[in-house]
Amino acid sequence: MMKQECIMVYNLRDFDERPYFEEYTGEYGLSMVTTAETPTPENATLAQGCRYVNIITTPADRPLLEALYQQGTRYIVTRTIGYDHIDLDAAKELGIRVANTPYGPDGVAEYTILLMLMCLRNMTSIRHRYLGQDFTLKGLIGRELSQMTVGVIGTGRIGTRLISMLTGFGCRTLAYAPHPNAEAKKHAEYVSLETLYRESDLITLHAPANAETTHMINEDALAQMKNGVILVNTGRGALIDTAALLHGLDTGKVGGAGLDVIEEESDLYYYDRREELLHHRDMALLNSYPNVVVTHHMAFYTRQCVETMVRDSVRGIVADIQGLKNPWRVC
Ligand code: NAI
Repeated sequence: MMKQECIMVYNLRDFDERPYFEEYTGEYGLSMVTTAETPTPENATLAQGCRYVNIITTPADRPLLEALYQQGTRYIVTRTIGYDHIDLDAAKELGIRVANTPYGPDGVAEYTILLMLMCLRNMTSIRHRYLGQDFTLKGLIGRELSQMTVGVIGTGRIGTRLISMLTGFGCRTLAYAPHPNAEAKKHAEYVSLETLYRESDLITLHAPANAETTHMINEDALAQMKNGVILVNTGRGALIDTAALLHGLDTGKVGGAGLDVIEEESDLYYYDRREELLHHRDMALLNSYPNVVVTHHMAFYTRQCVETMVRDSVRGIVADIQGLKNPWRVC
């Protein structure tokens, strides 16, 4: 029975994901059809006869879900932790089951610390100067993480892991989440959002993007923060109102930002756009600030995370085929 099941894999990267897909579909006796293309209503026909479709962070809106449903798709797994790019209401109405892939939190937590340190040590300016053969020091003096009060918003798997890693730096750590957890409580003090905004020198975001969290960092939130606050976002671009952030950078309210994710990134990130005019003005502006570091949604990108995301996306499908409880189902 397993052999008859086919997985349609979109956006497959040959250079890192394919060997893992071959290993795990082989292990479970599944067949797969693959494409490097992003799923669209037009290329949904590639999934013809495949009940299982495997995607990344590209939007899965109602027209795409309807087109896939017509091809026989009944289950979509995103080999990512976030699933805000999938229209869950449409999926539910159509009867398409949705799963995500919560791979280990270490890769993203470590990358978050990287961005924090890059901001505190003015790494964007250092690299610009160095590459321009300007080896002066003036204006590049850094700050030490040990002296900071760090505010962590969202204490799920990644936020909690980050909090435990931060103990090694000796900083004071504040945390906010609707549902505090005991592990994070060991190393951080849970406070209200208002207190976190007021007392943190550096704020890092680890909440999912949803209706409640979209633009949670807006003019109003920024006004409550310390002057010169550093913002780090490895969560989702939607958490920050980019216009408010740009204004904050202009006025000095925001003293630095480390952004692995930005709004409206999905048409750009992971594509080679070298020969094209890009129409993402906010991204161009963000990259023009010497105290901002922007990366293209890379925090997850470690060998360990990639293997686990492929493995568990396949294991969730196997659980579904076998009628077992699937720990990664989101709807
Ligand atoms: P999780 O589901 O374990 O934790 C989410 C946390 O956010 C929970 O503590 C939850 O209580 C909290 N939360 C929910 N609503 C909130 C609100 N309104 N305000 C504050 N906190 C709120 O998720 P996990 O695995 O820790 O991942 C967090 C996010 O990181 C994902 O949703 C995803 O968007 C992002 N991510 C980014 C990656 C990257 O490469 N940049 C890679 C992996 C995940």
